[in-house]
Amino acid sequence: MQLQEIQLFNFRKHKELVFAPSEGITVVYGPNGSGKTNVLEAIHYCTLARGLNRSLDRECLNFDAGYFLLTGNFTDDRGIELSVKVSYEKNVEKKIFINSDELKKYSQLIGRIPCVTFSPMELSLVNGSPQERRRFMDNALSQTNKCYLDDLLQYRRVLLQRNTLLCAVNEKGMDRESLEVWTEKLTQLACSIVSERLAFIERLFGYIEPVYEQLGLGEVPGISYRSAAGRHANDIAPGELFSFMMQRFREIEPQEIYRKQSLLGPHRDDLVFRFNDTDVKKYASQGQLRTFLIAVKLALHTLVSDTTGERPLFLLDDLFSELDGKRIEKILGQLEGAGQSIITATDRKDGSGVRSVSIEDLL
Ligand SMILES: Nc1ncnc2c1ncn2[C@@H]1O[C@H](COP(=O)(O)OP(=O)(O)OP(=O)(O)O)[C@@H](O)[C@H]1O
Ligand SMILES: [Mg+2]
Repeated sequence: MQLQEIQLFNFRKHKELVFAPSEGITVVYGPNGSGKTNVLEAIHYCTLARGLNRSLDRECLNFDAGYFLLTGNFTDDRGIELSVKVSYEKNVEKKIFINSDELKKYSQLIGRIPCVTFSPMELSLVNGSPQERRRFMDNALSQTNKCYLDDLLQYRRVLLQRNTLLCAVNEKGMDRESLEVWTEKLTQLACSIVSERLAFIERLFGYIEPVYEQLGLGEVPGISYRSAAGRHANDIAPGELFSFMMQRFREIEPQEIYRKQSLLGPHRDDLVFRFNDTDVKKYASQGQLRTFLIAVKLALHTLVSDTTGERPLFLLDDLFSELDGKRIEKILGQLEGAGQSIITATDRKDGSGVRSVSIEDLL
């Protein structure tokens, strides 16, 4: 997928800006606060219908404006053109158009323009709470597997219902039959989500290993799925997962009623990242932490590309900070040939296959 051109109108700091990146690696450089990340965020809107780091639509509206408009023109790897428009007016729901057709649901955009990001805020994927790692898996899988997104949305609805029931059980006595029905529904969806996640993690790891090998830093990565069901989900045969979870639900029923919430399932699971057999979160240096996240994202890029047949856009915010020269060169080497990458940095970067553009020249 190639972004041919994006036009920003009243988006964040930019009243008007046009950006046409080149086919390979483009570095957008400029001083702090000059609006480089704002440009990546605008591209992110056109691919995933939302800003970076869970920012709100109204936060992206220029302080002095009543609406913003983004127009992104893309060409996929088969040469088919796609135009995305995102418009937002103060206090009105945003509207998204693909080739002038308005989308009924924002989720219809997901997966149309595959996109992988790296940003310093995302370091919390490696060193933050389990929720961040669940979100990572859910986002990555939703881009490559439509059924996963459907299951996930349904799971969230069933979870809400079951939690409501657990609260009611506590106050008005026990409606065992209903609880059993909701537990079964929840477990069915949980099983398909967990199975998809396990398969995804295994595939992802298959891509992370060669990335690290090519980086040639002598660091060995590891990754595993930790299930709230107690045992490592990897150890349970797929056919046994349902009965295992149902059994666990029976065992923890008193705790669930006491806590008024569902205590098992993919909404409680986690990932463990390791390098050189230690927990990345606890022992990696700042640069190693960044390298780990970048390796995960490089791996994800290839995985999405192989799954969808479309090379995703690669948006990398503030990629170079805290990395030594050797790491930077190795990473750029891997980005070369990975399709279109747009990187922000405070200083220009010259090298083979890299075009540097000053943010000031875009205004
Ligand atoms: N809604 C908005 N309206 C107007 N200006 C905004 C809005 N949101 C953010 N800004 C301004 O945009 C600037 C930040 O832009 P951005 O984060 O893109 O900078 P940057 O070039 O990436 O900087 P750094 O090198 O520090 O990462 C800030 O000065 C901020 O005040
Ligand atoms: Mg920035």
